[in-house]
Amino acid sequence: MAEKADDIFKEFKEHSISEFFNKNRQMLGYSSKVRALTTVVHEYVTNSLDALEEAQALPSITVRLDRIDEAKYRVIVKDNGPGIPKGFVGKALATVLAGTKFHRNMQQRGQQGIGAAGCTLFAQATTGKPVHVTSSTGDKAYECDVAIDTLHNKPILSNVADIDTAKVPQGLSVRGEFGGVKYDSSDHSVFEYLKRTAIANPHAEITFIDPDGGEHTFMRAVDALPERPKIAKLHPLGLSVSDLFEMAHSSQSGRVTSFLVDTFARFSQDKANEVKDTLKDIDFAKGPKELTWNECERMVATFKSMRWISPDATHIVPIGEERIEAALQNILSPESLHVIERKPKVFSGGFPFVVEAAIAYGGGSGRKVEGGYTGVIMRFANRVPLLFDSGSCAITEAAKSVDWRRYGMDLDSQAVSVFVNVSSVYIPYSGVGKESIAQEDDIIDEIKLALMDAARGVQRFISNKEHTKEYEGKYKTVMRYTSQLSQDLASITGRSKEGIEERLEKLVAKQYKKEDKDEGGGSDGKDNG
Ligand SMILES: Nc1ncnc2c1ncn2[C@@H]1O[C@H](COP(=O)(O)OP(=O)(O)OP(=O)(O)O)[C@@H](O)[C@H]1O
Ligand SMILES: [Mg+2]
Repeated sequence: MAEKADDIFKEFKEHSISEFFNKNRQMLGYSSKVRALTTVVHEYVTNSLDALEEAQALPSITVRLDRIDEAKYRVIVKDNGPGIPKGFVGKALATVLAGTKFHRNMQQRGQQGIGAAGCTLFAQATTGKPVHVTSSTGDKAYECDVAIDTLHNKPILSNVADIDTAKVPQGLSVRGEFGGVKYDSSDHSVFEYLKRTAIANPHAEITFIDPDGGEHTFMRAVDALPERPKIAKLHPLGLSVSDLFEMAHSSQSGRVTSFLVDTFARFSQDKANEVKDTLKDIDFAKGPKELTWNECERMVATFKSMRWISPDATHIVPIGEERIEAALQNILSPESLHVIERKPKVFSGGFPFVVEAAIAYGGGSGRKVEGGYTGVIMRFANRVPLLFDSGSCAITEAAKSVDWRRYGMDLDSQAVSVFVNVSSVYIPYSGVGKESIAQEDDIIDEIKLALMDAARGVQRFISNKEHTKEYEGKYKTVMRYTSQLSQDLASITGRSKEGIEERLEKLVAKQYKKEDKDEGGGSDGKDNG
């Protein structure tokens, strides 16, 4: 061996999490140029929507893109939210893995405390510039520049200045310059992202000023705030050994029993006794911090063998049938629209989720392509549009498994928009970029059922439409002969041609109306055709 361990390990170094993400930006969505720009907008807009939800106010968000050169853009995102107190701005926008959301079990768009700091990293890595922030919490306002000391994952604040609150509206405004990005009008770009955000958040007003100065406003389709999500407790069936071990070791409870009953959903005193009876050698009177890994392992195995009431799903806030309908009517004006909200279900034994699906047919649905239309699948998780990594997503998988032709539809050649939103406190994303939902069987099955249900509604509309067309054709053909027939009958009977013709027409119309009633089915969706 030429090199000794001591020599080799001279190179040994520790790295910070921001250094890691700076090197592995593609993991956060900063890969292709178009995607990178959409990712920046996505991170800021989801933060604004989360902040407004928490402040319980209707969002008005403005996104502005300025082209600096071919691959360099300025992004400005402004909201009317609560703002960020000065003491937290560095941690919030310039520290990776810091935020208000990671540690609580609540249905929010953001989870990890990476998004905004990732944008700051991306700005400084591609243009060398910090991100400029203006914030007003209503009673205090300031502006500053934020950057990240990547070696230590620490914020660097500069040019901090207080501003008169009368001079700035309440909320947060961020302005950054980003390189290696591009704006275009594809399905993966900022316009489509904001359009879909507006569809899934009909209570938000979103204005977009594109790089050519074009202004687009997605108006609010409903004025009522969505219900505020509640903090959820983990269900015993959704617990891993390390969850239990870590939660036990950070618990303030005095005894293992009270820790279990207070911390987890559906854990009654009776249930605690049942666990105690099964694991007689574990001391349930000791502090939870004293639980060993092995004891936690045996407890989790015991939980899995017990019967539990399913997890409570009241902390899940889906968009709601009426809101989806209002939003899709507002933005797509389809000929036919069918929205389905399924009841809460559970994946992996302990994680509740709700699927909502809609199919919009005709009107502004689908996408125009040369020579016609093509169908579009709009994927959402907790109301956030997922534009990338569609191949690995449970929604794509479910949509692919539906036999659309059976319902009279063809997603390759028709103006159809398929909408799916999965809501859960624990969306199983397939990566840190949060662009696709892991292919859990329970989730795929639910989406498929919802889609088939919505598809049946559209199928009724299509067959009614075809029937009406056929009926009109027949009616016209018969009517073509009534004039000649009336003439012949008049000459045989000696009565007036006009009188006979009028009665014949009435008779034909009556007969066809009757047939139409007998054959045509009803429809429970909104058909505008
Ligand atoms: N527009 C805003 N208004 C108020 N607070 C904000 C705003 N944007 C960010 N924050 C605060 O900054 C924190 C960090 O944001 P960041 O996007 O990095 O993480 P996150 O949203 O918690 O999780 P994720 O990484 O999944 O996006 C948030 O948790 C929130 O407390
Ligand atoms: Mg975020």
